[in-house]
Amino acid sequence: MLRVALLGCGVVGTQVAQRLIEHADDLGARAGARLELAGIAVRDAARPRDGVGTVVPRELLTEDAESLVDGADLVVELMGGIEPARALIHRAIAGGASVVTANKALLAAHGPELFEAADAAGVDLSFEAAVAGAIPIVRPVRESLAGDHVRRVLGIVNGTTNYVLDQMTTHGLDLEEALKEAQTLGYAEADPTADVEGHDAAAKAAILASLAFHTRVSLAQVACEGISGVTAADVAAAQQTGHVVKLLAIAEQTAEGVSARVHPALVPVAHPLAAVRGAFNAVFVEADDAGPLMFYGQGAGGRPTSSAVLGDLVSAARDRLVGGRGPRESAYASLPVLPHDAA
Ligand code: HSE
Repeated sequence: MLRVALLGCGVVGTQVAQRLIEHADDLGARAGARLELAGIAVRDAARPRDGVGTVVPRELLTEDAESLVDGADLVVELMGGIEPARALIHRAIAGGASVVTANKALLAAHGPELFEAADAAGVDLSFEAAVAGAIPIVRPVRESLAGDHVRRVLGIVNGTTNYVLDQMTTHGLDLEEALKEAQTLGYAEADPTADVEGHDAAAKAAILASLAFHTRVSLAQVACEGISGVTAADVAAAQQTGHVVKLLAIAEQTAEGVSARVHPALVPVAHPLAAVRGAFNAVFVEADDAGPLMFYGQGAGGRPTSSAVLGDLVSAARDRLVGGRGPRESAYASLPVLPHDAA
């Protein structure tokens, strides 16, 4: 039996808890050992939450995250933000637990120190859910394409802004109306500024660029412009010239180094990325030998994101049981990363 500590009980955390309880037999069989949900750390255990007290027993909630982490074999961090997530992940790793996180902002800002700590401790630090929700993109880019040469990655990696732009395009809604809908549907971050201004996509761009080009790209190295300046007139003008407006995360290798940026772009209607509707995400990869590849699916929301989290969890459990490890994050070359103004 492996003890699982869950940090955070928001939309994704509740879904992960529910699946761990309801699918305990299947997940245990796939992992090779029962995955026992030991507890769920939250800031305020008394606060009413959807699903808690019904599908998720209230007794699992605790405000003592440190003790929960100390007793765990596997820690799933879904709190978001930098602290206390960063300190708790360090604590988990130091205690020998494997960690699964969906925290793109934390990885984009502090990934290197966390991966070094995990490497030194010989535990997994997995993050498939941090980029594009349910879409398996971290493993394909890092592992399946490790023998190829990636030239460029174009991603629609923020469901909220894609939903907003899509609603503006097809129903003529204004940005505020469409954003309210995206919040109601559970796609947006707690502070939707991170979505609208492109910061969420920029964190994902930093992670994708690091994976695709085997280097370290930090959030500070990603040039970022969101969609707050996009008007209904811009969207209509794009349509008249056979384009759609999409917020793209772009990472490419140039002769001078790696460039990573996020900005609204005019995508020709014939490009596969133009067909990505609603809150769906897609990542279009151009590699020398593989050619063009498109990864498509749901990039936000509790159930899609929980799928990626649980996949990582089963995989980390298997690694612990066979004494193996997931891919090393320390095996990065030092390709130069271009400054913003060279993008
Ligand atoms: N707010 C994010 C989005 C959630 O809209 O894509 C998934 O990271």
